[in-house]
Amino acid sequence: MKINIINTANKFKGLVLIPFVEVEGTINFPKGLSKIEVSQNIFSGKKDTQFIIEDKTEEKIYILLGLGKTPEYHTVKTAFRRLTAKQETLFSEQMLLVFSDGIDADLLEAAVSGLWLGTYRLGHFKNQGTAPKNWDITTLSILSTQINAREIAEKGLKIANAQLQTFKLVDLPPNKVTPEYLANWAKKTGKQFGISVKSFDRKKSEKEGLKAFLAVAQGSQREPQFIIMKYRNKEASKHIGLVGKGVTFDTGGLNIKTAGMVHMKCDMGGAACVLGAMQLIADLQLPVNVTAVVPCVENAVDNLSFLPSDIIGSYSGKTIEIIDTDAEGRLILADGLSYIIKNHQPDTVIDFATLTGSAVGTFGYECAALFSNDTALSQKLQESGMAINEKVWPLPIWDAYKSEMDSEIADIKNFHGKPFAGAITAAKFLEAFTENHPSWAHIDIAGTAFGDSEFAKAKHATAFGVHLLIKLLENL
Ligand code: BES
Ligand code: MG
Ligand code: ZN
Repeated sequence: MKINIINTANKFKGLVLIPFVEVEGTINFPKGLSKIEVSQNIFSGKKDTQFIIEDKTEEKIYILLGLGKTPEYHTVKTAFRRLTAKQETLFSEQMLLVFSDGIDADLLEAAVSGLWLGTYRLGHFKNQGTAPKNWDITTLSILSTQINAREIAEKGLKIANAQLQTFKLVDLPPNKVTPEYLANWAKKTGKQFGISVKSFDRKKSEKEGLKAFLAVAQGSQREPQFIIMKYRNKEASKHIGLVGKGVTFDTGGLNIKTAGMVHMKCDMGGAACVLGAMQLIADLQLPVNVTAVVPCVENAVDNLSFLPSDIIGSYSGKTIEIIDTDAEGRLILADGLSYIIKNHQPDTVIDFATLTGSAVGTFGYECAALFSNDTALSQKLQESGMAINEKVWPLPIWDAYKSEMDSEIADIKNFHGKPFAGAITAAKFLEAFTENHPSWAHIDIAGTAFGDSEFAKAKHATAFGVHLLIKLLENL
């Protein structure tokens, strides 16, 4: 989608999108467009309302969009996403967005982002039906007096671009999105956006001593990939480390899942979030240094799979007793966390993982579970999330929970075997591999990475965390 900033709509023909903040009385149709009066009984800008009219002589179709009295970023984004997602046939190659002075500049970003996000379709493998529309050739003209309208709109597009990539990585099936697929994606994207990328295969991971990571990988024919990405910026004063859980499919291993296995292609949601965020950080040229570690494996059932009661090693040197092979995410994250902290010394480390059903049990699909030993970081994450509706909410990591993970035979066990505090005890397990880093946050996105929405009948990716991370980095 091309962006084109204009200052008059006289010659424009085609679809005109006009967002309205709700008013008492009749809305004012912007000057320079068709002289149309819309009665307040029909449309007054109420949230989630729409009104469509055609002016045949001017060859314009107007969609009036109601944003409500105090429009929020995410409601505006969703309102615009709905248009391209559900009213595709109204769109041709040209569209015009009329953004009046009264509306906050931030919401222009949300509108453009939403329009572009709405072009996503789940039918990646469909042969039948109509061919997908080519949105790449569309031009979005924007009529706005905002001085930096182009910059704002371009940023909206970049955010949506990264989120679309994340959607795809999660929604594509696990026989396509293998660990190697993710490593190739990272390398290709790295070249395109200026991020240096390397990836360790099984053999190299053995040499490096990534033993906990390899224990999960050993039951799968698919070559594991331990991806390392580096983005550097000359103006940076901070170095952020990111870690994302990349289990491309979680069968549970020999403790095989008896419920919900069909959704477990989403278990690389943390990886997809970190990969998408890396693209966006580089695309926006944010003034920070960022290193990302993305351990990618498949948790498969095989005669070579690791066993419940196995004792495995780890990159940190700690030994781990395996109580349950379905608690695999924490094992690959353990190596990811100690590897990034020992080798790259980031000022702050944040991991994203679809880690526990318990996080879903606690918060449902409304927010992610946040664990952190850094109060300032925790607060900034919460604020950033609130601004764009990618909410995170803290749970405690008190040491009272620590002994739950004590093992009689090894340094630590991977599951306490009890039906309570699952998300917290998982966080306590991870903490043991953070080398006492003073600024660490763990975000359990099991309930927010993948789910239902008005945009598809099947569960699908949300790209949760991509925008949240950018918001955070802009606020640090
Ligand atoms: N990948 C799952 C967690 C998950 C659950 C992700 C729901 C997305 C939606 C994780 O690996 C897992 O299996 N966790 C177990 C841990 C338990 C065996 C200690 C869980 O939460 O039940
Ligand atoms: Mg599991
Ligand atoms: Zn898992």
